[in-house]
Amino acid sequence: MCKGDFLMSQGQVASESDYILEATNLSKSFGGLKAVDNASIRVDKGCITGLIGPNGAGKSTLFNLLSNFLVADEGKIRFDGEVINGMPPHRIARKGFIRTFQVARVLSRLTVLENMLLATQTQKGENLLSVFLQPYKIKQQERENKEKAIAILESVGLLEKAHDYAGALSGGQRKLLEMARTLMTNPKLILLDEPAAGVNPTLINQICEHIVTWNKQGISFLIIEHNMDVIMSLCNHVWVLAEGSNLADGSPEYIQSNDRVLEAYLGG
Ligand SMILES: Nc1ncnc2c1ncn2[C@@H]1O[C@H](COP(=O)(O)OP(=O)(O)OP(=O)(O)O)[C@@H](O)[C@H]1O
Ligand SMILES: [Mg+2]
Repeated sequence: MCKGDFLMSQGQVASESDYILEATNLSKSFGGLKAVDNASIRVDKGCITGLIGPNGAGKSTLFNLLSNFLVADEGKIRFDGEVINGMPPHRIARKGFIRTFQVARVLSRLTVLENMLLATQTQKGENLLSVFLQPYKIKQQERENKEKAIAILESVGLLEKAHDYAGALSGGQRKLLEMARTLMTNPKLILLDEPAAGVNPTLINQICEHIVTWNKQGISFLIIEHNMDVIMSLCNHVWVLAEGSNLADGSPEYIQSNDRVLEAYLGG
């Protein structure tokens, strides 16, 4: 677990296969503004990695680049040993790399269960030919997807809301639904953009417990978060971004006592 950065901290060489995600020298400009400026980041296989930085530091933009929701001007992104630059987000998701958004993107006019089912990949029913040739298989897959969605909803405490409109959920529950939905796609890596923002403290604790549980099941995480208690309690390794560039990275304890990091926050 978390082998790559441990090896590096011991002055040893980590290999590509120790990282589930490795991005080097990414840049993105919006007009004259360099939102991400030559930034690099690594996520150890099996680890929970944090990404912090002051408001406007470029964290969400970096997520957009990593998941190819935005095309990087420069830089290379490698997921699970494969270069994924230019690959559409839905193909990346199929490979096991999925992300959530700073403002949860759930479909308000669909039920909680329908939101879960929308995430399912390799839908045989979407292929017209297979509708005629494999009706039994399609029914079977739909049944399996529904069972899986119900099991996940139950595990996160949203089962009793399964038939409510997603729009009727609280902000925190919507974040939880968006996270739960990522599990429908059998992810290897989940990027979470501020999972605790606007969420009440009780639900934040529950969300943290779910993240730990999913991590123990083998899913790696990269988490943007302003709530330092969440970062410090969850993360094995933390990266700090300021004005689009890498400022520091290391253990939570190292980052917490790093003068440059404290300066970036106080000056921000
Ligand atoms: N689509 C866009 N067009 C123009 N400017 C953008 C766009 N997206 C982000 N920016 C700018 O890029 C910079 C970085 O924004 P970004 O949202 O990545 O920061 P952040 O670190 O996620 O901040 P926060 O902690 O407030 O969410 C900001 O100055 C922002 O205004
Ligand atoms: Mg952001």
